Amino acid sequence: MNKEEYIEIIDALINIIDEGVYVVDDKGKGLFYNDAMAKMEKISVDEVVGKSFHKAFPGVPISESTMFKATRFGQSTLNLEQTYKSLHGRTITTTNSTFPVYHEGRPVGAIEVAKDITHIRSLSNRILELEEIKEKETEQVQEKQKVAIKKYVFSDIIGENVDFLKVLSKARRAANSDASVIIMGETGTGKELFAQSLHYCGKRKNKPFMAQNCAALPESLLEGILFGTSKGGFTGAIDRPGLFEQADGGTLLLDEISAMSYNLQSKLLRVLQEEYIRRVGGEKDIPIDVRIVATVNESPKTLIEEGLLRKDLFYRLNIVSLLIPPLRKRKDDIELLTHALIDKHCDRFGHVSMLISERALKTLENYSYPGNVRELENIIMQAVSLSEGDKVLNEHMLSMPVTEMETYSHINSAEIIGGLDEYLSQIEKELIREALVNHSGNVTKSAEELSIKRQTLQHKMKKYKISAKI
Ligand SMILES: Nc1ncnc2c1ncn2[C@@H]1O[C@H](COP(=O)(O)OP(=O)(O)OP(=O)(O)O)[C@@H](O)[C@H]1O
Ligand SMILES: [Mg+2]
Repeated sequence: MNKEEYIEIIDALINIIDEGVYVVDDKGKGLFYNDAMAKMEKISVDEVVGKSFHKAFPGVPISESTMFKATRFGQSTLNLEQTYKSLHGRTITTTNSTFPVYHEGRPVGAIEVAKDITHIRSLSNRILELEEIKEKETEQVQEKQKVAIKKYVFSDIIGENVDFLKVLSKARRAANSDASVIIMGETGTGKELFAQSLHYCGKRKNKPFMAQNCAALPESLLEGILFGTSKGGFTGAIDRPGLFEQADGGTLLLDEISAMSYNLQSKLLRVLQEEYIRRVGGEKDIPIDVRIVATVNESPKTLIEEGLLRKDLFYRLNIVSLLIPPLRKRKDDIELLTHALIDKHCDRFGHVSMLISERALKTLENYSYPGNVRELENIIMQAVSLSEGDKVLNEHMLSMPVTEMETYSHINSAEIIGGLDEYLSQIEKELIREALVNHSGNVTKSAEELSIKRQTLQHKMKKYKISAKI
């Protein structure tokens, strides 16, 4: 293939992709400028190709030109957000990545790939405004109704498992310090409970506790939410403090920190090191005093290896680390949690407190809980809400995924310790007790449920010394 043909192919290729592509030679003269880029910047390809980038984009100051940095100093820029005016005065916001290109060690040009995020920017701004309105309204409503938002403290955290207690005592000791904390734990293990307890049981308790889930928002919006925005920063920007300023003197919980872009992670690191922030588009350095609690749902080692979490940020945050074990690794806590959660939800639904049958508890203990304590709580909450004055929470009231439920129908021969007869008698006893509990000791109804004759049931109750008064 000769050079012309090769160029034809490259030309066709860059014209069919959605991202804007701009290629210059070592002197900064435009070689390629694709349709996507032309559409984005509302200028024609001819106005750029063959011209130096200074002439094509007079609105970009040389000190901020990533093309200049790439062609002149061989510097790469990754995902940089830029707001600038195109040749025809249209303000656009893009994220750009610019790379120098070398041939045999000699710079031969630079490539820029850009994505138009102007609409995302103005949308973010709109959302910020709406959030502000919502916040004000919520404050007013709360003030009117004096609604207390649930604030968790350490005494709300239930668990006596040895490993769990170690984490809890480490957290209690950390509450009064200013050190950053990273909480690691699968979904539903109680990371929010720990984060709030660190705040509300520490010396910052009278200052604000703010939380932000980093996975919930796109980068450009998250940046504005965290650091605030300044008038003129981008089209329609308003002066607005970010969470760092709002949480001043208090604690900021950054949930799922690994969902934050690498770029924003490095900005966050700088803020933590220098202890001041600058609003997006602003020029003033604002000192901040905020304790950071960050959470991750997976092992930080894996997240670092997968390039989702910056190693330097992790080390900066990891001054205190709390690893909350998943529920399946602290099954000895299930009984305690179950009783506490039954009481909690009976209270909530205005029911008298319920007991739990042995079989139901066994079923709960045998489940693996991918959703951890939150899932256990949901199962119990559902059972309590559906109970109609029942005094006992029975197995049939539990709504767990059937495939995961380990009931008596899945018997492993290794479990049969005292011989088959004894094992079957145990099961028979359990089933009879359960039926009697279900029918408040009514033998006729229990026999019906078990599909046996009333006399047979009475005979078995005598044999196993089971009383009808359960
Ligand atoms: N040790 C615990 N004692 C009592 N309740 C708990 C405990 N752990 C979790 N819970 C309950 O489970 C719910 C979920 O916990 P939390 O919101 O803290 O989980 P999380 O780890 O932050 O999960 P995610 O990663 O999904 O945000 C809580 O609202 C609380 O009711
Ligand atoms: Mg959480």
